[in-house]
Amino acid sequence: TDRYCVFGHPVGHSKSPAIHAAFAEQTFDAIEYTAIEAPVDDFAGAWRDFVAQGGRGANVTVPFKEDAFRLCDTLSPRARRAGAVNTLILGGNGLTYGDTTDGVGLVNDLKRHGVALAGARVLVLGAGGAVRGVLAPLLQASPASLHIANRTADKAIALARDVADLGPVSGSGFEAIEGPFDLVINATSASLAGDLPPLPDDLFAPGATAYDMMYAAEPTVFLHWAAERGARGVDGLGMLVEQAAESFFQWRGKRPDTGPVLEALRRSL
Ligand code: ATR
Repeated sequence: TDRYCVFGHPVGHSKSPAIHAAFAEQTFDAIEYTAIEAPVDDFAGAWRDFVAQGGRGANVTVPFKEDAFRLCDTLSPRARRAGAVNTLILGGNGLTYGDTTDGVGLVNDLKRHGVALAGARVLVLGAGGAVRGVLAPLLQASPASLHIANRTADKAIALARDVADLGPVSGSGFEAIEGPFDLVINATSASLAGDLPPLPDDLFAPGATAYDMMYAAEPTVFLHWAAERGARGVDGLGMLVEQAAESFFQWRGKRPDTGPVLEALRRSL
């Protein structure tokens, strides 16, 4: 039995063990997947111990994605670009390979919902780690434009500069947002606290989609606000399952069917 885990702190509420158990059931892979709370000051030691105990790979969540990035021997181009790693893979040579599957998870979830990125006017709210990880895959899907708006404008502008070689991207504070947009992605942690960034009322183009990277049993404040303005709402539960599927593929070379896993997870919220 090959061993995998998710590292976090805290990690008790992680849905990754249930998701990967469901994938493994589909593909008849004999794997064990557990949740491990790593010490905040020694992530590298936790990974070393896990490998010594037969670990083959791991997912990495808050607050370890940058620590994981630093300990890798080799990085995928998309992980290097993101400056963060959510998937560790132990190579046959004993070296650690790092990848990030968050961005492709978001793009695949949008695809599943029939949201076209090509030619779309896209707005991203927030400029933290969650945004850094998804910018390159979003730009590679050829939007007409991608604007990043953040409470701290400088961080949005700096992020935009970092990916400017990949497409038409810009950054600003919330006050300089100029809509309308076909797709608005909320990646501020304001959602967690039930807060809403100050947004203009004419944000959405007809037929627009509002996507919140957060999810909950009930629609988030942002999705509630968006629905009142006629936008279609999608939460981040699908992104969670899609990023897991891409990690599973990196480890096992098989693509699980995400639909039924997402449905079961939705019912369990
Ligand atoms: P994550 O890994 O989730 O991206 P992060 O790196 O801490 O977390 O980033 C949090 C993001 O939420 C930032 O864009 C932050 O804005 P600042 O850069 O100005 O701090 C944003 N954020 C947090 N609380 C917010 C609030 N109450 N209103 C608006 N934006 C908020």
